[in-house]
Amino acid sequence: MRIGILGGTGKEGAGLAIRWAEAGHDIIIGSRDTERARAKAAEIAGQAGRAVGGMSNREAAAAADVVVLALPAAGLAATLGELKDACRGKVVISTVVPLSFGGGRLFTPPAQGSSAEEAQALLGPEARVVAAFHHIAAHELSVAGHDIDCDLLLCGADADAKKAVAELGSGMGLRPVDVGALTNAGPLEGITAVLATINRRYKLKNSGIKITGLPT
Ligand SMILES: NC(=O)c1ccc[n+]([C@@H]2O[C@H](COP(=O)([O-])OP(=O)(O)OC[C@H]3O[C@@H](n4cnc5c(N)ncnc54)[C@H](OP(=O)(O)O)[C@@H]3O)[C@@H](O)[C@H]2O)c1
Repeated sequence: MRIGILGGTGKEGAGLAIRWAEAGHDIIIGSRDTERARAKAAEIAGQAGRAVGGMSNREAAAAADVVVLALPAAGLAATLGELKDACRGKVVISTVVPLSFGGGRLFTPPAQGSSAEEAQALLGPEARVVAAFHHIAAHELSVAGHDIDCDLLLCGADADAKKAVAELGSGMGLRPVDVGALTNAGPLEGITAVLATINRRYKLKNSGIKITGLPT
């Protein structure tokens, strides 16, 4: 699978890139700055022992089979406004969580209800948006060979797209849990606000979530 990670120079995108490169996928790091993308790609290639590409966000989206949004919520509109054609028909994974740090309300979703639904609105109905990976901390992803103690909760409208994302999660040892339509992305993103608060209160970097009662 060719996976383009927009904002892949950041902590979450780079962590996903390492895991997927180690699993044998072709990774392209996207950035607003091509030089920054290339530098991060070289760093990840060194860690994963496999070639990794670095391009602009637009080129990464156009070249990829699967596009991953790993940038702050505040950057979605400016980034995705020009990527409708590049993402048409593709699986688009939104890891984005609309959090506002600074003392006020932590979870600050957009008018659409969630960042994933905002992404869907910006990219149009032909992008196959799946919300996922919000609860998998960058810190957990970046520790090589370390098992991640968290379920992969995901939601979206397209069953085949969700299956593809579930397989990308299983490939890094996560148990996928399908939580239905993209309208559940707001609750999923909101759980990250809870985990961030738990991390702060208990001085952790890696609290996660697991669903009980599922058949084994
Ligand atoms: N960190 C975690 O543990 C974690 C866990 C789950 C979900 N998430 C979510 O994953 C996303 C990325 O998290 P992160 O911690 O990796 O964030 P980050 O390091 O702050 O940002 C990721 C990348 O986004 C790009 N970026 C920054 N501001 C931007 C803007 N205004 N417009 C477009 N691009 C911008 C930057 O890349 P360039 O400057 O190279 O373009 C940056 O390296 C966030 O939505 C976060 O809520 C994070």
